[in-house]
Amino acid sequence: MTNNLIDILQLSTEEIDALIATALDIIDKPGKYAEACRGKKLATLFFEPSTRTRLSFEAAMYELGGNVLGFSDSKSSSSSKGESVSDTVRAVSCYADIIAMRHPKEGAPLVATRKSSVPVINAGDGGHNHPTQTLADLLTIYREKGSFENLTIGLCGDLKFGRTVHSLISAMSRYKGVRFVLISPEELTVPRYIITDVLEAREIEYKEVRSLEDSIPELDILYMTRVQRERFFNEADYLRLKDTYILTPDKLNSAKSDLTIMHPLPRVNEISVAVDDDPRACYFKQVLNGKYMRMALILKLLEVEL
Ligand code: NCD
Repeated sequence: MTNNLIDILQLSTEEIDALIATALDIIDKPGKYAEACRGKKLATLFFEPSTRTRLSFEAAMYELGGNVLGFSDSKSSSSSKGESVSDTVRAVSCYADIIAMRHPKEGAPLVATRKSSVPVINAGDGGHNHPTQTLADLLTIYREKGSFENLTIGLCGDLKFGRTVHSLISAMSRYKGVRFVLISPEELTVPRYIITDVLEAREIEYKEVRSLEDSIPELDILYMTRVQRERFFNEADYLRLKDTYILTPDKLNSAKSDLTIMHPLPRVNEISVAVDDDPRACYFKQVLNGKYMRMALILKLLEVEL
């Protein structure tokens, strides 16, 4: 692959396996990696709000012995003066060895790769993709299930604008025996291009349904998502749809005992806090796994040999 990560499918399944192996080694022997990026700088260019993704990239770079610079608000960058993404990136690649960029416009990180002289990582582009959240999700699935095959995966909530859903479907569609149950209101179904170019193109079994309760018993993984308020054209539609699905302990009574409950976070209302104590709740494990996978990704893109 090129030394960028814009779309999760740029990584082969072998490369995903290698990143997981590195992440597991980091978990096992953190000291071995503590100086791996000494003298290297990561720039975090966040044109959209973030807690986990940005801090996780920063923590990842610090734990590799590197340094971090950047901004967390487009208003404090020259984009507020009208600078283009291309010019910002061209300038930043004079200071940093690697860039993580989040932007509200779909495709902005891809545009950035054309002007950057250093690797660019897509940290979320509009309602499109979020490949490093998928790396966090994949390590979580691997650690919980031991394999990526023969899983029934329920994705629930805003499947239209939820970029983490789009990247996760692409990534999981490459494994044998994976089935998807796509649970959403009619207005928030998975974009057509994912149905045709990913699911139908690969002959993956899937169904689109409305009811969370009816779907729960057959699932191995339940991936809940927030309704993406910032991508709605009008507030009334958001208010009407935001609480369509709320996962509560009673709904989990009919679930498998080894269900893995995931959520990319931030959570709003869609998982009741009473679910947090259920041993099947894995969304805070995902947060930690995200840091390890970002460490593994930075090492790969910077071609650091230990
Ligand atoms: C997600 C995102 O930014 O797309 N958050 C994250 O990075 N973990 C999900 C969301 O905002 O709902």
